[in-house]
Amino acid sequence: MNKTKIGVLISGSGTNLQALIDACKDDDFPAEITIVISNNANAFGLERARVAGIDVAVIDHRDYEDRDQFEAALTTELKQHKVRLVCLAGFMRILNPSFVRSWQDRLINIHPSLLPSYKGLHTHERALEDGIRITGCTVHYVRADVDTGPIIIQAAVPVLPHDTPENLAERVLEAEHIIYPEAVRLVASGTARVRGFKVIIDGMPTPDHTLVSPLPEN
Ligand code: GRF
Repeated sequence: MNKTKIGVLISGSGTNLQALIDACKDDDFPAEITIVISNNANAFGLERARVAGIDVAVIDHRDYEDRDQFEAALTTELKQHKVRLVCLAGFMRILNPSFVRSWQDRLINIHPSLLPSYKGLHTHERALEDGIRITGCTVHYVRADVDTGPIIIQAAVPVLPHDTPENLAERVLEAEHIIYPEAVRLVASGTARVRGFKVIIDGMPTPDHTLVSPLPEN
């Protein structure tokens, strides 16, 4: 099978990276990770990649004069590894519109809320403060404005009465680990395509790609 080469950009623990690594072990999965790049040399995700035998690169934004030069280094590394699809997985740098445009429709991100609600940081704290009943996560194509872009998959996660930001984050992460590999599968196989502001999924109506995670048992 001709697999789509993907590059994963991380800054931290890399549990979503791990979910992608695990998915790629399946011979039928249409993508393979050829490079993991972190802007943070201490990111645990780098260790996950090394264990899986995947090439890693540390590109520290602090070593570059400006964001353009940092991003040029990212692009060089991605191109060297023949990357066709870039997956942001907890990558904590804002990307310039020029970088986003150069990877138009080949750059996706996972965000821990049901976008367009709760863009930005501290999503779980804000969701709990607002008393919402359902939160979740979103995989979307990246556009220049932070946390915007055509939505590929979302998962809904119920908010429970005694939730703290930490345990809500944990349950949302579990859902993230399901939908990110699924989104990569859809994009890499060409089943999901951008049409205007939306993503069309061949052969299936969009509701089939909306996942509701079950309530925990106790
Ligand atoms: C996840 O919650 C993801 O949605 C957000 O950053 C977090 C990264 O977690 N963008 P991990 O590094 O994948 O464990």
